[in-house]
Amino acid sequence: MSDGPKYAVEMRGVTKRFGAVTANDHIDIAVAEGSIHAVIGENGAGKSTAMNILYGFYKSDEGEILIDGRTESIETPSDAIKLGLGMVHQHFMLVETLTVTENIILGAEPLSGIAIDFANARKRVRDLSTQYGLHVDPGARVGNLSVGQQQRVEILKTLYRGARIVILDEPTAVLTPQEVSELFAILRSLRDQGKTIIIITHKLAEVLALSDNITVMRDGKVIGNLATRDATAEALARMMVGREVLLRVQKKPADPRSPLLVVQRVCLKNRDGSLALDDISFEVRAGEILAVAGVEGNGQTELIEVLAGLKRPDSGEIILEGRQVAALGPHDHKSLGVAHIPEDRHRRGLLLDFDLAENSILGLHRDPPVSGPFLLNKQFIAERAKRLIKDYDVRPPDAELPARGFSGGNQQKLIIGREFDSKPRLVLAAQPTRGVDIGAIEFIHRKIIELRDEGAAVVMVSAELDEVLSLGDRVIVLYEGRIVGEVDPKAVTEEEIGLMMTGGQKHEGRQD
Ligand SMILES: Nc1ncnc2c1ncn2[C@@H]1O[C@H](COP(=O)(O)OP(=O)(O)OP(=O)(O)O)[C@@H](O)[C@H]1O
Ligand SMILES: [Mg+2]
Repeated sequence: MSDGPKYAVEMRGVTKRFGAVTANDHIDIAVAEGSIHAVIGENGAGKSTAMNILYGFYKSDEGEILIDGRTESIETPSDAIKLGLGMVHQHFMLVETLTVTENIILGAEPLSGIAIDFANARKRVRDLSTQYGLHVDPGARVGNLSVGQQQRVEILKTLYRGARIVILDEPTAVLTPQEVSELFAILRSLRDQGKTIIIITHKLAEVLALSDNITVMRDGKVIGNLATRDATAEALARMMVGREVLLRVQKKPADPRSPLLVVQRVCLKNRDGSLALDDISFEVRAGEILAVAGVEGNGQTELIEVLAGLKRPDSGEIILEGRQVAALGPHDHKSLGVAHIPEDRHRRGLLLDFDLAENSILGLHRDPPVSGPFLLNKQFIAERAKRLIKDYDVRPPDAELPARGFSGGNQQKLIIGREFDSKPRLVLAAQPTRGVDIGAIEFIHRKIIELRDEGAAVVMVSAELDEVLSLGDRVIVLYEGRIVGEVDPKAVTEEEIGLMMTGGQKHEGRQD
């Protein structure tokens, strides 16, 4: 045996074309056994495609794949699973109507006699959740879980099958900072026990903190493989984007005018009668960004839904430019100038089987000029789609491609383009930069600040503390559906705000 590193996975000359797009162009990636290997690159660079080929979801047009040094033909995910591969997808592949346990064991059901042994399965799921700190109720229906909890189910699912090589496609995009450090601890201990981890992420700090080696992709090609100890954030950003990137938000102080949105004593009940929003009151003035901090699942989702007209509060008032809007639906909100970037772009933001042009008019299709006297105004729609593609740098620039054919980050750019293009008065931005690359983050932040400076009021929810503190002009903290305080983003420390987010107090007099 040679004494070079042993590779758990080698992709050699792998090429994949989708029509005119070459998503992977003769890529070479070698992943050392027992290492954490990061794959990074801009939106649409071809990262997910490469991993989907490895996992048997797509068939490559050229090239070969070696697992543990042997050439293998991986035609389907079940071939991949047999070879010891597991994958946590960028977008969830769960069945919403089934429970957590049912989803996890789907296709790998333990049998007792000829019946599925649910008791045993539930116990194993519970053991795994405890062991890895991935807390989730095994009996809960997946459709009722938050995005973050669904992610945990996906992770549990691969662990349940005992994968030796675990591929994670942007697993941290949906996790809270606390969950991220828990996940990293899990991944490190998996590696230390000889497992191999491949992780796609846009967060350079995570790459530097977690990985052993890095592959950088751009435009379908591998443009560099390097050891993490030789890398810096600036150098990686430059390699990914091909230019210098601003890694920090630059904005001038807000110049707020009169209150544009007034929320008074809003309560919203969950199905079980508990309060998702508990006596929420705040104002947002024209020309300012109000950022909402909080651990995911503390009412942020519901707050945005109520403000967008998707849910009607059980009590309280919402006043938008002097009008009572709490009882109005989403279409009315849109007509009154409310833009909404939803946190779950697949569930709320896009129709995946419809093309870009069709998606670019969602929510606007009943109003002129999109809708002419009798029919949709085709020419207007086509021109608008073309302009959005250009202004928001959606790649590939193909208005007829179904939304499904765009990479995650480009789907997000499409939604943002559609929502921001109508010159909104109130912008509701939930996780606006989730899953988008560093170049696009810079771009989206600039757009939000532009809208603010043109006099829009912005309510932004983000799980990224950095984003909350750098973009917010004012910051409120939600905990268990209540506003537990407002902080000055320029003065507060991460510790202080972290304590508030987990139910501690900012000031003295705290009693545990
Ligand atoms: N099913 C598909 N049909 C058509 N084109 C596709 C399909 N899947 C991916 N592509 C195209 O292949 C290219 C690479 O996409 P991929 O999803 O691999 O990017 P990515 O690096 O994972 O990006 P992101 O960071 O945004 O998730 C993109 O141009 C994308 O539009
Ligand atoms: Mg991807």
